[in-house]
Amino acid sequence: MNRTFPDGFIWGAASAAHQIEGNNVNSDWWELEHRPETPVAEPSGDACDSYHRYPEDIRIVAELGLGMYRFSLEWARIEPERGFVSRAELDHYRRMIDTARDQGVTPMVTLHHFTVPRWFAHAGGWRANDAVERFTRYVETVSAILDDVEWVGTINEPNMVAITAGADAGDAAGSQWESTHGLPNPSRRVSEVLAAAHRSARSVLSGLGHVRSGWTVATQAVQAAPGEPGAQEAAQAYSYPRDAWFLEQAAGDDWVGVQAYTRTIVGPEGPRPVADGVERTLTGWEYYPPALAEGVRLAARYAPGVPVFVTENGMATGDDARRRDYVRGALEGLHDTMQEGTEVLGYLYWSLLDNYEWGSFAPTFGIVGVDRATFARDVRESARWLGRVAQANALVD
Ligand code: NOJ
Repeated sequence: MNRTFPDGFIWGAASAAHQIEGNNVNSDWWELEHRPETPVAEPSGDACDSYHRYPEDIRIVAELGLGMYRFSLEWARIEPERGFVSRAELDHYRRMIDTARDQGVTPMVTLHHFTVPRWFAHAGGWRANDAVERFTRYVETVSAILDDVEWVGTINEPNMVAITAGADAGDAAGSQWESTHGLPNPSRRVSEVLAAAHRSARSVLSGLGHVRSGWTVATQAVQAAPGEPGAQEAAQAYSYPRDAWFLEQAAGDDWVGVQAYTRTIVGPEGPRPVADGVERTLTGWEYYPPALAEGVRLAARYAPGVPVFVTENGMATGDDARRRDYVRGALEGLHDTMQEGTEVLGYLYWSLLDNYEWGSFAPTFGIVGVDRATFARDVRESARWLGRVAQANALVD
């Protein structure tokens, strides 16, 4: 089948500030990485030094023929102390936006990608009473540099944020959401706060007049173990508070971001570990390209009528040819969903660069490699292939 994508379909690659910039010293993550008993394997350090090397990164995106670069603004840099706004850091991000424009690359700007300023975390983070107000003020602040930016993502993977925030002890509403399987569920309370923060951010952004905003949700292909009584119900109970609820919150948004990597099989007892003998990626996840189509179908079901943007999809691997197989498989499935009638605006590969995968540099997602000693960029064959796909706007070899 000739898999051609609709005119105007956007191709690109994604990143996030803390994972690539380096020395994000005022963030909660930096603090976590440097605790004496930190749970992380290694700190982010200089990361990819993209704080300084972003012109080179953006030039690579442009030269590949990709049309969009998704990156995030770092709240911890912009507001390192409560109420103090760094003009210099705002200028820095404005220069990034300008650099993208100058190279013919459309920026997609994420306002919050997992990290927060230390002061915000110390004051209770998303559980603080004034969390929404604080975030809204930050969004108002950065609006000053978004005057010609069309694509803005408010909060990245709010469902993951709510999962890491932990269960709501003694919260009756939250307990309905608690997994009976002893695995973390999103905190109901934090989920609601994030949804409120998202709505508030969207109302600030709509005041700018030209922004198309949405949030980007982590999806999984959740599948009930076939033929096992109770598995269907367990799969639904597992999936709904983790991804469907967050997709529902996107009703009325300009678009909803779908991020998809793998699947989880759920038996009556709960989610199962990846079975022996099944191919895994460097994150330990099952190699499962159809996860993307399933994520898009989930969005179409829970956020009907809201255009989908694939804001992340990719594979951590040391085998670049296998990465290409993965993306090809994912794109075939994506194309199917569009044939079924779902509006999909674009596809952004995660990630442009090998980067700091929240605790370790070992899971290499990049279509561009980064030498850990020199920061030299190595444009891989998968990147060139994705560039050719973008140029053809079709699945070419
Ligand atoms: C989701 C997150 O948004 C991103 O930060 C992370 O690196 C990738 N997925 C891969 O785990």
